[in-house]
Amino acid sequence: MKIISSPRLLQKEIIRLKKKGKVIGFVPTMGYFHEGHLSLIRRAREDCDIVVVSIFVNPLQFGPKEDLKGYPRNIKKDISLCRNYADILFCPNVKAMYPDDFLTEVKVGRLGDILCGVSRPGHFKGVSTVVNKLFNIVLPDKAYFGQKDAQQAAIIKKMACDLNMPVEIQVLPIVREYDGLAMSSRNVYLSYTERKEAVVLYKSLILAKDLIKDGVVDCAKVIARMRSYILKTKSAKIDYIRIIEPKTLVAIKKIKREALVLLAVFIGKTRLIDNILIKR
Ligand code: PAJ
Repeated sequence: MKIISSPRLLQKEIIRLKKKGKVIGFVPTMGYFHEGHLSLIRRAREDCDIVVVSIFVNPLQFGPKEDLKGYPRNIKKDISLCRNYADILFCPNVKAMYPDDFLTEVKVGRLGDILCGVSRPGHFKGVSTVVNKLFNIVLPDKAYFGQKDAQQAAIIKKMACDLNMPVEIQVLPIVREYDGLAMSSRNVYLSYTERKEAVVLYKSLILAKDLIKDGVVDCAKVIARMRSYILKTKSAKIDYIRIIEPKTLVAIKKIKREALVLLAVFIGKTRLIDNILIKR
């Protein structure tokens, strides 16, 4: 596995590989790998000739009061976890990605202002801008994202479609801990008690699934039941619970065929997100 930190050198290397007809698979990350990240990297390995993984904790997608400084990092461990699957690890520094005179931003309209965009203003503009830059450096044929960040995946798909990007966006299932908690680099912030209580997100999604299976199709009712279930947990504070149409992210009132139930909940000070796709 080659480790490259210069955007220009990586782009040159990719152009060389593409001239040889290689199919490039790309997994963008912020590092501190867990099985969720590795599931994407392994799939890229199965599908593509060359696998590029990036690790870049992108300052543009963190709000001023968010955890940019304290975001968990362990580059040595990440290298050892991905070295058997990736051909190239791209680890640029902030100056290389955002020189002092950097000006351009990419914003995917209303999709970035709803759901997580309400409590994290500017977050998705930061995500779409960095992913756009990364795509231009890595020139991937296929790029891999997790359903864990459902809104992010929908935004990236829309950006790629709207801007005619020649890349296929693959969205892979959520990888969970033994008890159902969605894996996340931020789970390390949880105390022992909070970690046990954090399973409430997943359990509330299963409650929603069961209710819908039993014929409750009124979204307000499903959400109210989830809300009262979650609030039994001491450390939980709900940011939002929504039931939406998976592609457009538009809220729905009655569940007909497909619905995405998603939520963001603070467990203590840690904000966690999760979702489940429900088909009737
Ligand atoms: P990061 O949080 O490191 O996640 C990298 C990728 O791993 C994302 O596509 C995310 O959805 C996926 N992922 C995280 N947890 C997962 C899980 N439990 N199961 C499956 N996939 C999971 O998302 C980002 O980084 C950044 O916003 C990024 C896209 C790299 C732009 O900076």
